[in-house]
Amino acid sequence: MRKFAIIVAAGSGTRMGNETPKQFLLLRGKPILYYSLRAFLDAYDDLEIILVLPEAHIEAGKEIAQSTGAQQRIQFTSGGDTRYQSVKNGLSLVKHPSIVFVHDGVRCMVSQELIRRCYITAAEKGNAIPAVTAAESIRIESTDKNESIDRRQVKIIQTPQTFHSELLRAAFEQNYEENFTDEAAVVEKSGIRIHLVEGDLSNIKITLPADLLLAEHLLPS
Ligand code: C5P
Repeated sequence: MRKFAIIVAAGSGTRMGNETPKQFLLLRGKPILYYSLRAFLDAYDDLEIILVLPEAHIEAGKEIAQSTGAQQRIQFTSGGDTRYQSVKNGLSLVKHPSIVFVHDGVRCMVSQELIRRCYITAAEKGNAIPAVTAAESIRIESTDKNESIDRRQVKIIQTPQTFHSELLRAAFEQNYEENFTDEAAVVEKSGIRIHLVEGDLSNIKITLPADLLLAEHLLPS
């Protein structure tokens, strides 16, 4: 099946305490986004990328795409105010029934094994969402108390969240809701059962300065 990766990188990244959105910060001399693009380009020769960027950074994104040497496989669009809108903009460029990976531009440590694992399950079952089990103890807080819960039941969700394009397109016809923090939530709301696949603890979302240091160490040399 045809394969598209919608790489969402249209966030402002303010938690990093930096003017530059975090997807453009350098890791071993190259922008974070470069490694995310590279992982998908290398996973499948026939995969095409749709890169969703802030309007003001499209030119910078094009330069990064050029540095991969595979710019002919990469299209660009601008993002929206929410991740939901950014994905919707990217999805409008998927013109063929295909398997669509939606990936956070800042998860530059994603492995080819994980990308392939997601593809296989999504091709068979319609969707594949990578998840890892919580390593910390977990408590749920309500207005007047907090309670311990079994952490083995808590799954931390990663990307690439992977879907048959038509199932994703139908789900994105729904009106935006505030709890649509990922694509699995949107698809689930449309009545589809979500299939979890084993994620990868190294597939970190670079959010805070400490994540950048960790990624410097984890990146294969
Ligand atoms: O803000 P958060 O860390 O959840 O962002 C996850 C990913 O979604 C990031 O790669 C970010 O650039 C992207 N995003 C986007 N458009 C938005 C908000 C976030 O593409 N409006």
